[in-house]
Amino acid sequence: MNNDVLEYVKQNQDRFLAELFDWLRIPSVSALPEHNDDVRKAGLWVVDKLNSIGFENVGLKETTGHPAVYGEWLHAPGKPTILVYGHYDVQPVDPIDKWVAQPFEPVIKNGFIYGRGTADDKGQVATHLFALESILKVHGSLPCNVKVFIEGEEEGGTGGTEAFVVANRDLLACDAVAISDTGWYAPDLPTIVYALRGMAYFQVDVYGPNRDLHSGSYGGMVQNPLNAIGKLIAALQDADGRITVPGYYDDVATLSEVEKAEFRKVETPESEVAADLGVPALWGEKGFSAVERNWARPSFDVHGIWGGFSGEGAKTVIASSGGFKFSSRIVANQNPEHVARAFKAHLEKLCPPGVTIDVKYLHGATPVMVPVDSPFIVAGQNAIEQVFGKRPVLVREGASIPITATFLTALNAPSIMVGYGLLEDNIHSPNEKFKLDHFQKGIECGVVLYDEFSRVG
Ligand code: BES
Ligand code: MN
Ligand code: MN
Repeated sequence: MNNDVLEYVKQNQDRFLAELFDWLRIPSVSALPEHNDDVRKAGLWVVDKLNSIGFENVGLKETTGHPAVYGEWLHAPGKPTILVYGHYDVQPVDPIDKWVAQPFEPVIKNGFIYGRGTADDKGQVATHLFALESILKVHGSLPCNVKVFIEGEEEGGTGGTEAFVVANRDLLACDAVAISDTGWYAPDLPTIVYALRGMAYFQVDVYGPNRDLHSGSYGGMVQNPLNAIGKLIAALQDADGRITVPGYYDDVATLSEVEKAEFRKVETPESEVAADLGVPALWGEKGFSAVERNWARPSFDVHGIWGGFSGEGAKTVIASSGGFKFSSRIVANQNPEHVARAFKAHLEKLCPPGVTIDVKYLHGATPVMVPVDSPFIVAGQNAIEQVFGKRPVLVREGASIPITATFLTALNAPSIMVGYGLLEDNIHSPNEKFKLDHFQKGIECGVVLYDEFSRVG
């Protein structure tokens, strides 16, 4: 039944790659307003693709942020309805000088497709679009009902798109969501992700004197805003790696011994991880293993600090202001808004005398846990096993896909996360890449996946 389709996939791999490259060349960086038109253009690429393969009601859906793309094929009465989700926006490319090739001129090297958005997430979304094309071209129909919903602002927290989902429950109603926006736990370990952490993301601006000051003429008389930043950051986490916000851990679900044992079955030895990262040792909250910390414990990470002088040489200055961005990844049963309020109140209390601070909560995401006994997860495992020759492990993931929580609450639909990325893909970093073999087998896997989904009764 699938053989003709898989033959079509084989015959068209070169063209699929060429089409993906066209999409990858559009610099759809959702964080930077100067790329707003590019983001829209990348969305329109999906619109054209869906129209060309026979999807219906295809179009851009405006949100308060970047638009999403919707299209549907609903001619399999009595069969499940699958919502295919992904994102066509990408991360900024800086630092650009660390890229060996241009981020938006994709190339193939050593069996990998290099370029921004290859693994996160255009290359992975494309596996679904080409699989759907292949089934429709060969059979003229799909084995189940499929709605495609690809957003343009995931990397910025999904704000407007999340509201769109809540306001359009009927349009997006489905039995399960298929997502390829995750990776394998190890190079030869196909993986289905069943849980993601959430997050709360903040910007803190620190204001001192009304102008930059000579540090000799004024030093010792004022609180230096950059020193204050150091004090604030240092005060947010204790020496044992615990977050100091009062009550922060009250809602954190305890990790059971059974879960810990499950984690230990797949975990990479910590010494190997440390060697791979080139650090003298791993570090984190006392009392938990690295994988426990990453999958099931909250985190605190500063993402950027600015202010003052960081050029070459020395400048004796007290900057008038500075700031930093940080986030806290959260886990079941934490709530991003509660966490945001608690961090803000704590920071305001910690603010050293002589400066003022402004704490902004930029965006958040609720953690998710998909019931592992969902028959759609089993269907996903079946498909991956058929194509990659190994039954995938079920693992958690420390990163976030904000909309998955909304799919669960607003649509009551579990997200089946069948991703093809690898840890070495450098997503969000210079030299992002996606394994060519995973792209090509991913298309085959898509073909088998929709067939397996259609059998869930
Ligand atoms: N695709 C990633 C999430 C991911 C990364 C899953 C690695 C599995 C492995 C997604 O695009 C992402 O980067 N999410 C952001 C969300 C944030 C901006 C709210 C994240 O986790 O930082
Ligand atoms: Mn992604
Ligand atoms: Mn990402």
